[in-house]
Amino acid sequence: MTTKQFPKGFLWGAATSAPQTEGHSLENGKSKTTWDYWYETSPEKFNDAQGPKNTSNLYEMYAEDCKRMQEIGLNSYRTSIAWARLLPDGKTVNEEAVAFYRDYFKKIKENGVAPIINLFHFDMPMWLMEKGGWEARESVAAFAFYAKTAFELFGDLVTDWTTFNEPIVHVEMGYLYGYHYPAIVDFKKAVQVGYHTLLAHAAAVKEFRAVLPTGKIGIILNITPTYTRSTDYADQKAGVASDLLNTKSFLDPAVHGKVSQELIDLLAENQLTPKTKEHDKELLQNTVDFIGLNYYHPHRVKAPQNPAVPAKMPEDLYEPYDWPEKRINPYRGWEIYPEALYDVAMMMKNEYNNLPWFVSENGMGVADEERFMDEKGMIQDDYRIEFMVEHLNYLHKGIEAGSNCFGYHTWTFIDCWSWLNGYRNRYGFYRVDLEDHYKRSLKKSGLWFKEVSQNNGYTDASST
Ligand code: BG6
Repeated sequence: MTTKQFPKGFLWGAATSAPQTEGHSLENGKSKTTWDYWYETSPEKFNDAQGPKNTSNLYEMYAEDCKRMQEIGLNSYRTSIAWARLLPDGKTVNEEAVAFYRDYFKKIKENGVAPIINLFHFDMPMWLMEKGGWEARESVAAFAFYAKTAFELFGDLVTDWTTFNEPIVHVEMGYLYGYHYPAIVDFKKAVQVGYHTLLAHAAAVKEFRAVLPTGKIGIILNITPTYTRSTDYADQKAGVASDLLNTKSFLDPAVHGKVSQELIDLLAENQLTPKTKEHDKELLQNTVDFIGLNYYHPHRVKAPQNPAVPAKMPEDLYEPYDWPEKRINPYRGWEIYPEALYDVAMMMKNEYNNLPWFVSENGMGVADEERFMDEKGMIQDDYRIEFMVEHLNYLHKGIEAGSNCFGYHTWTFIDCWSWLNGYRNRYGFYRVDLEDHYKRSLKKSGLWFKEVSQNNGYTDASST
């Protein structure tokens, strides 16, 4: 048995997003996002026809939900603002949204919880999508205006901000693999979309420095650390390409203020170089104060067998490798590999100036959780506790080795809607009962997390 103590002031929290929790998606002045549009036009794509309209009804229940944060010992909490709610036409402020977010953020703080507010979580407003979305250069200025507006309206309440959640995801899912609207498959467009997103991020950071010079701003990236099949040259080369595209594409510019030469070369070799403008390099020098890393699973790769040259898809640069020893979360299909958190911690220490960072999402989605409900109605989610302890053990090891990690946020606080998967897999510390007016009920993991937060650590019975 060992006690794992975390650094003083460590953030114990949870993350979520506006589209996945608020509901009232087409009410209170909010305009449509691509999710509203997609559900309207292709409802069959969504698990059990569960669309974005109501999600977890936080819009009506936030006052009680903020008390629930305190009940399980959260000292910090990340959510996002819905761009299409705040600026329904991209220009005009929706006063109802301002009142909602101001009161929501105040209530979070009244409960002793520090808000970290994110600006974009896959929810592209439809008015901008109609102009080309992130494919269009004008998305950069549109996002910078939104960011500036949000900093001005809420900067007295919120000091810690992030620009994007997992920007590589809307690139991959929307422009390579068909899971997000507009479901285009085009590597070159995907790179352009990624590039405009990167510029939009940097432009928002620039606005931030002018509006809130004493605040802190970061970006939330999904980290899927690459592990290669072997040390052979071809596998290693595949690993380098995967790392450049999936990890370094946003992390390098966010921290170092520029895109790496290796990535520029890789894109050029494959005729994927995006359109750029002269002053872009200058804009990219707007670096962040901290990084959030969402970690769920590693990325195992091997050399591609018959790659197209130049590459037509990322799989022409690296192919997925099915590691025979893997452990899988069967509900989500993702590998469970907590060891990676130590490697990530070392990467931040050694390759990214030991910049302050936190685990901004980590969690386990499980289907049909009602199976685990006890006679008092509490879900006994010991599997979730085990999952988190395993991950925290490796994170702790990384912190002991000197990595500058300042917090651990789980996904998620209250069961929330999950894009095409709807409510199939549940991640929350609280269950949401869709049959009973979105009633929330505490799971065992919530009680466990409260103890961890209060003790700023835990005793791990499995380690010596
Ligand atoms: C993260 C996202 O990638 O993973 C969340 O930031 C998402 O929006 C979470 O819900 C869990 O993944 P999923 O696909 O099971 O909901």
